[in-house]
Amino acid sequence: MKRKVDFLVIGSGIAGLSFALKAANYGKVCVISKNSLEETNTRYAQGGIAAVTYSPDSFEKHVSDTIICGDGFCDKDVVEMVIREAPLRINELIDWGVEFDKNPDGQYDLAREGGHTEHRILHHKDNTGLIIQESISKQVRSHPNIECLEHYFAIDLLTQHHFGWITKRLNMDIECYGVYAFNLKTNVVYTILAKVTVVATGGTGNLYHTTTNPLIATGDGIAMVYRAKGIIENMQFVQFHPTSLYHPGERPSFLITEALRGFGALLRTVDGEKFMSRYDSRGSLAPRDIVARAIDNEIKIRGDDYVYLDCTHLDTVELKNHFPNITKKCLETGIDISRDLIPVVPAAHYLCGGIKVDKNGRGSINNLYAIGEAASTGLHGANRLASNSLMEAVVFADRAVKDTIEVMKNREFNEKIPEWDYEGTKHPEEMVLITQNYKEMQQLMSVYVGIVRSDLRLQRALSRLGIIYKETEALYKKSTLSRKLCELRNLINVGYLTIKMAQNLHESRGLHYTIDYPQKRKISEF
Ligand code: FAD
Ligand code: SIN
Repeated sequence: MKRKVDFLVIGSGIAGLSFALKAANYGKVCVISKNSLEETNTRYAQGGIAAVTYSPDSFEKHVSDTIICGDGFCDKDVVEMVIREAPLRINELIDWGVEFDKNPDGQYDLAREGGHTEHRILHHKDNTGLIIQESISKQVRSHPNIECLEHYFAIDLLTQHHFGWITKRLNMDIECYGVYAFNLKTNVVYTILAKVTVVATGGTGNLYHTTTNPLIATGDGIAMVYRAKGIIENMQFVQFHPTSLYHPGERPSFLITEALRGFGALLRTVDGEKFMSRYDSRGSLAPRDIVARAIDNEIKIRGDDYVYLDCTHLDTVELKNHFPNITKKCLETGIDISRDLIPVVPAAHYLCGGIKVDKNGRGSINNLYAIGEAASTGLHGANRLASNSLMEAVVFADRAVKDTIEVMKNREFNEKIPEWDYEGTKHPEEMVLITQNYKEMQQLMSVYVGIVRSDLRLQRALSRLGIIYKETEALYKKSTLSRKLCELRNLINVGYLTIKMAQNLHESRGLHYTIDYPQKRKISEF
């Protein structure tokens, strides 16, 4: 079945919905989401959104913190651009109904996180993402120019390849005409033709066994663009958050926000040592890559399962007032954070790389934009500064909308795109064939492609992933379409890119740390 829209947005997090709300001024928008509109990574964001608000903070300081954290890999022009535009975009979030906490004097209550030299994180308690997601979802749901297709799974982009043109041989640009989307409730695949297609599908946390990301984060958009021969970059820079609640068996892992360390909480080994000062003069508030590696090292050397986060010296009333959800969640697992230490472990959290885009969110495929965590913009470099991603999403959504207006006017729908071919894909398979490969993929990525890597580990990961790849592609070609199978296929594609790009970087840089190559640059050289 065919549908036609001016703007097709794949993904309903902060990036997709803020794009949709603005694009709706220029044409019909269709947002597709493989779950409900509200189930996104955005919803789980805790710490907040970084932006320069008051002196003594300044654009220069935020730029400098971002570049230092990015370990020399940031695009300085992009950093400058995003940080200067962020306050305007945050005002728009406020206009859409997002409320950030204020002090009794009426000024914003700014938090601080690792790598920031100032308090500059706007937040709502410890559930900023939920407030953002609910506010913008409400606006989108009531907008007359926006149609929301929930529980629709984008399978593949529509390009010339679908009507048999061999673009490489003809040296043609690749064009995007929309997407094949699978209605998960009726099992019908729709051909959605669009003048402009926007990938806002978020990150890849589920590549790993332990992750703060909800189940939707399976790298679908990145895998689709890769299969359509678009450019993907910097996949080796996977950010592990240092502090997720150690609660074996729980998926996703519950995040203990870095803002808690900004509030004074301290990391300790199981026997009570404040170990971070041995690793970095910034202690518990050093950038994430350093803290996550330090925790990983302590756990491995000592044979412990976790380290502790200690809040017991902090003002109890203030603590519970600022962090009500963490307080509640910990209590449910028997931990009173004002009296007990919180057991924490690092967890896969954020992908710095992704679909390579320019300053307006344009990818290497014509009429295709990528925004939010799925995109690689140059802002984060080799390591994202905390709370810079929600900010990046709104800035790039805005820039992409402005860029698409002219593109959209000159575009026609491509009616030559064939309908989905169901032939040969009608054989149900035992789910265990998919679930076991999913577990094996997560296991090998966690063990060999985690916080600390080596040439040997990466090579092992690649050869084992190769087996899972072949089995899964064979299954995909003959089996009935299912969400789990499509996600596994996508994760294998992005896992492959992560390993290959890690193998190609012969130095330790930011989040890519390998025992075979030393760190080359020092902070003073940036
Ligand atoms: P998401 O919010 O992840 O949305 C992706 C959307 O794409 C979803 O709607 C999903 O259903 C849809 N989708 C995916 N694949 C398909 C498909 N095949 N078909 C159809 N739809 C699809 N960042 C900060 O800046 N500050 C924070 O405090 C912060 N805290 C965080 C806490 C947690 C626990 C986590 C997990 C992340 C946190 N981050 C934070 C990171 C930040 O939340 C994300 O980077 C950001 O929300 C990503 O937004 P997005 O719009 O790009 O994608
Ligand atoms: C956190 O609250 O610690 C997460 C912030 C982020 O990932 O940017």
